[in-house]
Amino acid sequence: MNSLLYGDNLPVLREKVPDEAVDLVYLDPPFNSDLNYNVLFTADGLHSDEAQLTAFKDTWTWDAAAQSALDELQTVRIPTLVNLVNALHLGLARSPMLAYLVNMALRMVEIRRVLKPAGSVYLHCDPTASHYLKMLMDAVFWPTNFRSEIVWRRTGSHNKARRWAPIHDIILFYTKSDDYTWNHPRRPYMLGHVKENFVEASQGVYKTNYYGNVLTGSGTRNGESGKPWRGFNPTAKGRHWAVPGKIWEEVGIEPKGLTQHQKLDLLYEKGFVTINEGDAWPLYERTIMPGEGPAASDIWAFQPYTEGTVFGTTAGIDADVRWLSPQDAERLGYPTQKPLGILKHIINASSRPGDLILDPFCGCGTTIAAAQILARRWIGIDISPFAIELIRRQRLEGAFPHLKVGVDYKIEGLPTTIEGARMMAEQDRDRKAFEIWSVSKIDGIPNDKRGADKGIDGRIPFRPDGKTVRFAVVSVKSGKLKPDDVRALISVAKREEASSLGFGVLVTLNEPRSGMKADAASAGTVEFHGNRYPLVQILTTEEMLKGKKPNLPYVDPTVGFGKKSGHADLQGDLL
Ligand SMILES: C[S@@+](CC[C@H](N)C(=O)[O-])C[C@H]1O[C@@H](n2cnc3c(N)ncnc32)[C@H](O)[C@@H]1O
Repeated sequence: MNSLLYGDNLPVLREKVPDEAVDLVYLDPPFNSDLNYNVLFTADGLHSDEAQLTAFKDTWTWDAAAQSALDELQTVRIPTLVNLVNALHLGLARSPMLAYLVNMALRMVEIRRVLKPAGSVYLHCDPTASHYLKMLMDAVFWPTNFRSEIVWRRTGSHNKARRWAPIHDIILFYTKSDDYTWNHPRRPYMLGHVKENFVEASQGVYKTNYYGNVLTGSGTRNGESGKPWRGFNPTAKGRHWAVPGKIWEEVGIEPKGLTQHQKLDLLYEKGFVTINEGDAWPLYERTIMPGEGPAASDIWAFQPYTEGTVFGTTAGIDADVRWLSPQDAERLGYPTQKPLGILKHIINASSRPGDLILDPFCGCGTTIAAAQILARRWIGIDISPFAIELIRRQRLEGAFPHLKVGVDYKIEGLPTTIEGARMMAEQDRDRKAFEIWSVSKIDGIPNDKRGADKGIDGRIPFRPDGKTVRFAVVSVKSGKLKPDDVRALISVAKREEASSLGFGVLVTLNEPRSGMKADAASAGTVEFHGNRYPLVQILTTEEMLKGKKPNLPYVDPTVGFGKKSGHADLQGDLL
């Protein structure tokens, strides 16, 4: 079943994904950018510093975890990898970069294990570490299985003093073997190319405008290329058979190891050579329609303001792999979110409908969305509870309401029982995963940069009049609940009245005592459209797990998810 899995992908892969189960892996790990990525939610009435969440950390240090990864790598049964890691250890010492690389190396080994023999893997990274990652990928997948280094233009411009503006990412494409799925992706021709080389034979149908001696070269030859082919003798005209490379590019065939006669036969069989009675030469003839084009290349670079220059479309060059602009409708507010377009390219090129796609660093679920749209099965893994809840809410329930959890997909790793919730609260106190999960689960926007914002773990957007957005404040308690906690929430909700209208929600892992419920009730109720709503509400984790949500007028979980998020950058000081 399609699976969304919460947790560190290394143990999750080991425990949940069997050998040779996956057809295609796309991974977009943190880039060693030495930045933490903030999700900044923006909406009218909500200041960015009121709703920040460090979605995931991208900072590496040489610590006990790095040392244990280095030790564990010594036991991996891929000698080239062990040797390479040890060489890197010598060269890079116990640096943040080595910490990052040993972490990645262990995951590459698991990815290789879960891939089917005909599977492919795409590793998305950037020039900060792509050179080291490529060496590791060579060691794990073998240099002969390296297929492409794709350069993807990730932004319009990026001013940097004293160097070229860094605007590209790298996507390394490897396969597990030589026998892999490849659907021969193509790109549309440029309009100028078509104008130069084709004539419009009829409405929308273009034929090559060069005929004549295009299949021969001047001068005679003694070998096969000088011999007659299908009744045409080149030697008699002082020429020899020589199919130009340009033609192969155009028809998208690699004629490796073929003789000239075999090449002519191949072109003939494919319908690119016509022989008319009485003609002096066979004619190379190619008909194209809009949408056809040469084999797709390894540079994916949207060029703004080139609309109308691509044959048969009104789009600009590579518009389908355009980076996400700050206001892009596709944005979910998750840092480092990738456009659907690049995932669609990858999935279309390297898998078939029904295939299983894995993204072990799935973020806000771009791969899941693309796989679902393209009728592939999927597994997404992420270590951030917020990412998992965001995917559930926006990518699954929001985008595919007909899909049913438990039937069409499953979500695992986040608590489903009160015992599980207790375990999460106990184990993960540092990263506040429990608070983030609780707020996300009730359609709220988590806030972990509290600062002056004391007592507010998040805000739930609602639209009491159907239009204006207001934010109920949320406080999450995983320890023992004190009477003061309820009173504090009432006063915070009051303090924030302009935005909260006095609404506050207390989520508690432990049962509140009856006096606390009475305290909450003392905050009063308010009426909207004939319904009365309690201003301050207590929701237990147990109730939340059963699907209960705070009773607020017209909660709108989509608020704040459509705008710019934190920004990734390169960082040169890692060694
Ligand atoms: C660069 S983002 C991926 C963005 C994603 N491609 C998208 O379009 O939304 C990297 C993700 O990896 C997750 N992550 C980092 N370390 C992880 C680990 N050890 N296991 C699972 N996920 C991890 C982070 O939480 C983050 O969501």
